[in-house]
Amino acid sequence: MMTLNYNNPDLSTEERVSSLLSLMSLEEKIGQLCQSPMLEYDSKKQEYLSQVRSGLVGSRILADTAWAGNAPGETVDPEQINEIQRVAVEQSRLGIPVIFARDVIYGQSTVLPIPLAQSCSWNASLVTDAYRDVALEASSLGINWTFAPMMDVVRDPRWGRVIESFGEDPLLNGAMAAAVVKGFQGDDLASPGSLVSCAKHFVGYGASESGCDYDTTEISENTLANVYLPPFKAAINAGVKTFMSGFNDLGGTPVTSSKDLINGWLKKDHGFDGFVVSDWGSISDLHHFRVARDEVHAAAMALDAGVDMAMTSEAYQDHLHTALEAGLVTIQQIDDAVSRVLTVKFEAGLFEHPYVDAEKAQLCQRAPEHTNRAKELAQQSMVLLKNRDNLLPLVQNETKVAVVGPHAHTQRQHLGSWCLDGKSDDVVSIYQGIKDLIGEQNVLTEYSALTDEWVESAHRADVVVLCVGESHRSSGEARNIAELKLPSGQEEAIEAIANTGKPFVVVQCGGRPMPSQAISRHADAHLMAWQCGTETGAAVADLLFGRACPSGKLTMTFPKSTGQIPIYYNKKPLGKMRDFADYRGYKDVDRAPLYPFGYGLSYAKFRYSDVELMSVADGKVKIGFTLSNLSPIKATEICQLYFSRAYSSCTRPEKELIGFERVDIEACSSRHVEFEVDIDGLGYFETIADYVNPKSAVTFLVGPNSDDLLPLECTSSQLYQTEVN
Ligand code: NOJ
Repeated sequence: MMTLNYNNPDLSTEERVSSLLSLMSLEEKIGQLCQSPMLEYDSKKQEYLSQVRSGLVGSRILADTAWAGNAPGETVDPEQINEIQRVAVEQSRLGIPVIFARDVIYGQSTVLPIPLAQSCSWNASLVTDAYRDVALEASSLGINWTFAPMMDVVRDPRWGRVIESFGEDPLLNGAMAAAVVKGFQGDDLASPGSLVSCAKHFVGYGASESGCDYDTTEISENTLANVYLPPFKAAINAGVKTFMSGFNDLGGTPVTSSKDLINGWLKKDHGFDGFVVSDWGSISDLHHFRVARDEVHAAAMALDAGVDMAMTSEAYQDHLHTALEAGLVTIQQIDDAVSRVLTVKFEAGLFEHPYVDAEKAQLCQRAPEHTNRAKELAQQSMVLLKNRDNLLPLVQNETKVAVVGPHAHTQRQHLGSWCLDGKSDDVVSIYQGIKDLIGEQNVLTEYSALTDEWVESAHRADVVVLCVGESHRSSGEARNIAELKLPSGQEEAIEAIANTGKPFVVVQCGGRPMPSQAISRHADAHLMAWQCGTETGAAVADLLFGRACPSGKLTMTFPKSTGQIPIYYNKKPLGKMRDFADYRGYKDVDRAPLYPFGYGLSYAKFRYSDVELMSVADGKVKIGFTLSNLSPIKATEICQLYFSRAYSSCTRPEKELIGFERVDIEACSSRHVEFEVDIDGLGYFETIADYVNPKSAVTFLVGPNSDDLLPLECTSSQLYQTEVN
């Protein structure tokens, strides 16, 4: 039989894959399933290149530890990437290109806000555009594949990796994850400006016990199906090409060995046709979890579960051969995994354009349209939490502003912990941003770390911008905290500024919702600025001085105290709620959060009214309402729609987000706004496989946040008939 030329781009991907597969030796096949970090590349170069020449390296990860974000050592060097690729393409027997991977989580040279902050923009299309820019910058350097987005639903802000998540709501998490996938992969994955995206960490990793990283997860099937899996479904629908299996043990089965979840839910039930990579070392971890007898057994378990590629190589390189000989895996399983990897390589256009133009790469880094978009996203990501007596926006030129505090001049901090390539020097500090906007003559500052020097500046100013918050070293992978509190000394510093009697704004930086008694008690205004990337200072300045109007809203509940965790808006009703609601809480702190999910202020005041059922037809329900802007400024309001079922066959949350929209509204005007909801979307999973939607009366709830909502009652006959009576 004549073998087709797999290098011919006119053939279908399927034909190219099967032709190539038919020519491969077992070693070459296993090689495609291995991702090597190539540690100490320079000193071990010949050894690595000889492995590449022998077809043993399917992928290279540009990272040197499992927690690459914490100590980025490995850099991206397009010349080095070309050097390795040339050996793969021109000197290996079959010329299969290597796929180069790096954690481009939220930025390359232009660094966006951390994902938790981005989600507060509730602006999926802006997120897509911003990630398109990131994809251009990263791919131009030779990166083909990135390990993002992370869509782990999070309910515990002690966990350091909440920075990488889009928050506590499954719907919003899925919408943002899909937006990132679209940005990275673009309309044409084969175009040189696109990156292969990876949905992670499949699944449940966000529920790590006690907020400790890598910890056990215990999630009921019902919660897994309704809360943790839906964002991954959204990523599949968005066309994501790869998945990463998490580090976690989920109810007795480490996910990396879960046949039910990977081969079952993901590949069989949801038709995912890309490939699955393990997390760093999570295949060997099966041995350490003591569910695999040895490393060979671990490799067999992972492949059998559906993990196609091993990050890092040794798990498959050293053991898959033996597993095959021992009959623990079959050649068909290996072939299936190899076909999946090759399919993505063909689809990503690696065979057509394996190399990068190292000189051209520099031209697109930090292009003005990228930094402008990053600034816009930063502005929309920051959340105004408090604004007593409308202290903000500050009046430019009439005010002397003291910009002080531990974060007044920081730069590296705003890049957050999962940023491998952004440069501190490119970050606009908060002081710099304010100075650039209002002129040096209007700003006072202190470079000193001494609180009494800040106090002295405050005395000499009309208003103080006090920049506080945790450092980037307190969040990210393997960086959890037991107590949600500002770093030592900051509560006192806030009190000291308050004692000057000067009006003051607290700008809080950090990677998680973090309450502060002093901010709550004393600050006149409070802007949650998160870690918003290279354009942070410019965005803060625009918001404080009214060049931009705050619109961001929280996607993770802000607790009052650590003891309230887990705290999230979509709680379930309790049987005892009828008479005993008062006994439910704590004696020492009330149960309400400091700020609820969806909360955030604007400089405009909005009013919601006239919520009405517009129509029910073709499986959709339309809900309308009037949004009024009572202020003399144009603004944007993130309108939210929740629903609550009167009856379900299993317990369901008191309310669930089902729609949201950023609505631009002119000064002193009103607008009619409509939400259209699929009636099918009012259902839920009873078990992983059973989605049901029993007829029930439903209350729709419209408003500015999860705690301030106008109800619209719909009977089940209204909803489940074709016409409104
Ligand atoms: C471990 C992390 O869990 C994962 O998110 C990351 O992509 C890999 N390390 C690679 O750096």
